[in-house]
Amino acid sequence: MSENAAPPVRIRPDVLAMPAYRQGATPTRPGFKLSSNENPFDPLPGVLEAVAQRALETNRYAPAAMPELRAALAGEFGVSLDHVHLAAGSVAILYQLVHAAAGPGDEYLYAWPSFEAYPSLGLASGATGVAVPLTAGAEHDLDAIAAAITERTRVILLCTPNNPTGPAIRRSDFDRFIAGVPSDTLVVLDEAYREFVDAPDAVRGEDVLRDHPNLVVLRTFSKAYGLAALRIGYGVGHPAILSSAASVGIPLSVTGVAESAALASLTPGARAVHAERIAEIVRRRDALAAGLRELGLAVPEAQGNFVWVPEGRDRGGVDSAQALAAAFAEAGTLVRPFAGHGVRVSVGEAESLPEVLRIVREFVVAV
Ligand SMILES: Cc1ncc(COP(=O)(O)O)c(C=O)c1O
Repeated sequence: MSENAAPPVRIRPDVLAMPAYRQGATPTRPGFKLSSNENPFDPLPGVLEAVAQRALETNRYAPAAMPELRAALAGEFGVSLDHVHLAAGSVAILYQLVHAAAGPGDEYLYAWPSFEAYPSLGLASGATGVAVPLTAGAEHDLDAIAAAITERTRVILLCTPNNPTGPAIRRSDFDRFIAGVPSDTLVVLDEAYREFVDAPDAVRGEDVLRDHPNLVVLRTFSKAYGLAALRIGYGVGHPAILSSAASVGIPLSVTGVAESAALASLTPGARAVHAERIAEIVRRRDALAAGLRELGLAVPEAQGNFVWVPEGRDRGGVDSAQALAAAFAEAGTLVRPFAGHGVRVSVGEAESLPEVLRIVREFVVAV
């Protein structure tokens, strides 16, 4: 399918003008794929068996309510299961929430750079996305986001830890910020990388959800649980907000296979292995960040499963994100460049660490 071909039917000009979501590239030769913040580990014990078993029922629609899974997730937040909404990836819930709350003439706010899907979330609903630049330290500028709120603002997206730069929002900053947000404006705490957060002062959705009826917390099985291919994520919040999100969602998109894989990931045995793997990814992340800092790069605090190399000498970074990403690609390893901002490197296999540091060292020395 050629991207530039004109469609043979009338398509909305604003849709035609919008670039499609760009997935992290797939390696074309042996090397590491560190471009999509994926989990390098195999599925947790019991998951493949559960998937194989459930796959025997592929001729049937999965019952949509999935009460066992929702109850398990609700328990983590101390809420009832009607506070949990499942979808085919948390990105689907992001779309649903923006569509449910923001229509033509309305605005939704987000920090930038952040998750690359944010700018197009309002496209189909006609809402305008307003990007608020991060601070020089690559953190959310909550004061600037607060200043950007207008009577047209319907949704505020907060990504913590921020993909792609790494810092988590501090609890005290979050509390101060949300106290100033109109109580009828939806705030979304996108915690796709929550399990990797170890900063004691970071905001955690489960700690703040009950104080704010206008807050929805998003989580996913794609990252820490390694189920990216099965597409399952969830939102936790006020049941009426989530039911509006469901109203604009595509029915029956969560598969039974994904449901069974998620449930199998939450058994005590799977959770124990999960905790060990998270600890290992966090160790690798911290080692990678430390190694890059030793090379003279100002890597911001990394709280997800990725590290950020800023672009620009004034930010303590490399001269060109694209050139660094090209050097990686040349060596067979894929990372994600954000032109004009920096390069995100996902934490992958143990053997990828020395390779990442080698490539960056050679790049920095060569410049
Ligand atoms: C910040 C953030 N939110 C949401 C998502 C979506 O994850 P998924 O749709 O796989 O649950 C991602 C994926 O990269 C992400 O980085």
